[in-house]
Amino acid sequence: MTRSKIIIDTDPGIDDAMAIFYAGLCDKLDLIAMTTVFGNVTAEIATRNALVLAETMRQVIPVARGAATPLVQTPNHVSDHVHGVEGFGDMPAQTPKGSALDVPVPEYLCQMINDHPGEIILCPVGPLTNIALALRLDPSIATKVKAVVIMGGGLHSGGNVSDYAEANIWNDPHAADEVFAADWEVVMIGLDVTQKVVCPHSDFTAMLGDAPIIGDFLAQATDFYIKFYQDEVGVDGCQMHDPTAVIATIYPELFKYEHHPIEVCTDEDRIGETRISNDKSRRLAKVAVDVDIAAVKKIFFDTIKTGF
Ligand code: BDR
Ligand code: CA
Repeated sequence: MTRSKIIIDTDPGIDDAMAIFYAGLCDKLDLIAMTTVFGNVTAEIATRNALVLAETMRQVIPVARGAATPLVQTPNHVSDHVHGVEGFGDMPAQTPKGSALDVPVPEYLCQMINDHPGEIILCPVGPLTNIALALRLDPSIATKVKAVVIMGGGLHSGGNVSDYAEANIWNDPHAADEVFAADWEVVMIGLDVTQKVVCPHSDFTAMLGDAPIIGDFLAQATDFYIKFYQDEVGVDGCQMHDPTAVIATIYPELFKYEHHPIEVCTDEDRIGETRISNDKSRRLAKVAVDVDIAAVKKIFFDTIKTGF
């Protein structure tokens, strides 16, 4: 079976770790690179963490360090209350053996996409700064990716950092608007679906027998993450944002979609809101609005079980 090439643009982050482990272990995907961005943590910590995740899976995956700040706005505070100061809950920082590529991320993304036209799934699961900068550098990449599937936004759900905004969009709304305005069909895996996929801590400890190393990593990290959801959201489990987006890249049939031109509000009052645009020149985005929750969870844990 040919595996689909995927690049994950990421700010790891606990659910980012789930997404990366899933992509690295899935026999339908070939995780050919990771690019990093500020968001849950700084770009520096995100880069270190992406390298640590690859090494935890015993894989060599190129990692390039991307944007440290948003395009226009003053940076928001990192999400250490959700993901911990070092990004993986209370787990102490680990030092990776390898190091990041010495290459600017926009150039790297454009080169990879131009070298493999029609082959690469781009899956951003953090703020969209790197993707907007790559589009500015070479707008033709929009016609050369196989798909762009983002974790971000929400259409009917409201936000998770304000009444209107989802965290990834809120962290760089100007970049997100450029991404929705580009000449490609954005698949938006937002809070309408990711908030529905909730896993209790027992789901992660159940991995310990089959995948002791990755299971232990996720059990430790999600301990912190789930406390946040219990205390701040009133949910007894964690929302599986980023892995749900990666799963959507290969199992689109598990989701229901609406098709709309989408814009991002950059005005102060509703900053970061993703909403239907009146600009009919915009391509329709494919916005996931419902999901087969049980199937997504099963696919995720069945794949993680195949790891170390
Ligand atoms: C998104 O924001 C980050 O905190 C998560 O990693 C996810 O990408 C959810 O709103
Ligand atoms: Ca993320």
